[in-house]
Amino acid sequence: MGLFVVLLGGPGAGKGTQADLLGKALQLPHVSSGDLFRAALKADTELGREVKGYLARGELVPDALTIAMVAQRLDQADCQRGAVLDGFPRTIDQAEALDGVLAARGEQVTVVAFVNVGEDVLLARLSGRWTCRICQAVYHLLYKPPREAGKCDVCGGELYQRADDSPETHKRRIEVYLEQTAPLVQFYRERHLLVDIDGEARIEDVQARLLAVVQRAGRQQRLDRDKCRTCVD
Ligand code: AP5
Repeated sequence: MGLFVVLLGGPGAGKGTQADLLGKALQLPHVSSGDLFRAALKADTELGREVKGYLARGELVPDALTIAMVAQRLDQADCQRGAVLDGFPRTIDQAEALDGVLAARGEQVTVVAFVNVGEDVLLARLSGRWTCRICQAVYHLLYKPPREAGKCDVCGGELYQRADDSPETHKRRIEVYLEQTAPLVQFYRERHLLVDIDGEARIEDVQARLLAVVQRAGRQQRLDRDKCRTCVD
């Protein structure tokens, strides 16, 4: 059975930063719906042209487009052992669609980590963020500065500020998060899948807690599966 981890949290909560570290630690792909949309935009595909306005305004892309894109990504060979999902699901309909996609493969969501960060901190993080144009590594002017200004530590690529990192879009993205995504906290809590993580701690401390949570959930998933097999036998 695969390990499917969902990272939930507001814009700038650190989902991308943590998903990248967690993916490396567990040797699982980091599947970011935002990165997939930005790649489509950059490549000027039909999907990219369709979603451009939504991203620029800080609105959610319609569920049908988003679900189809992520389902296709999860179907790829590197996701057979699981994935770290960052930015998806973001609506109840997306969460139900994810359950369906995984159930069709005999899989399920292993754990949902809610990376909890207050609004002021979200805004401070978004306004200082710089991203590598080539490998998408994420930096922050104060909290995670690159060794050389404007240059990625990993691949030497140029750092840029995302088009949706403007003060007006930040405000809208937080509103959209509170209206449409925050209800997922309750949705997953009721299913006993949610674990709260203090996202305001240092990057390394958040990662240590997250890794421990995911490893424990993975062990529990294996125990439940073995118990289930014993029942069938
Ligand atoms: P997306 O790319 O998913 O953006 P987001 O959810 O708004 O999240 P961010 O990527 O802005 O932040 P993050 O939580 O990953 O934080 P990060 O690690 O970068 O979505 C963009 C758009 O695409 C959406 O608005 C929508 O239009 C569309 N979209 C995407 N998914 C969709 C979906 N499922 N449905 C519909 N539409 C969708 O960290 C932020 C900064 O803080 C960085 O500078 C980092 O270095 C720093 N930092 C991180 N952790 C810490 C820490 N612990 N301490 C100090 N600094 C930290």
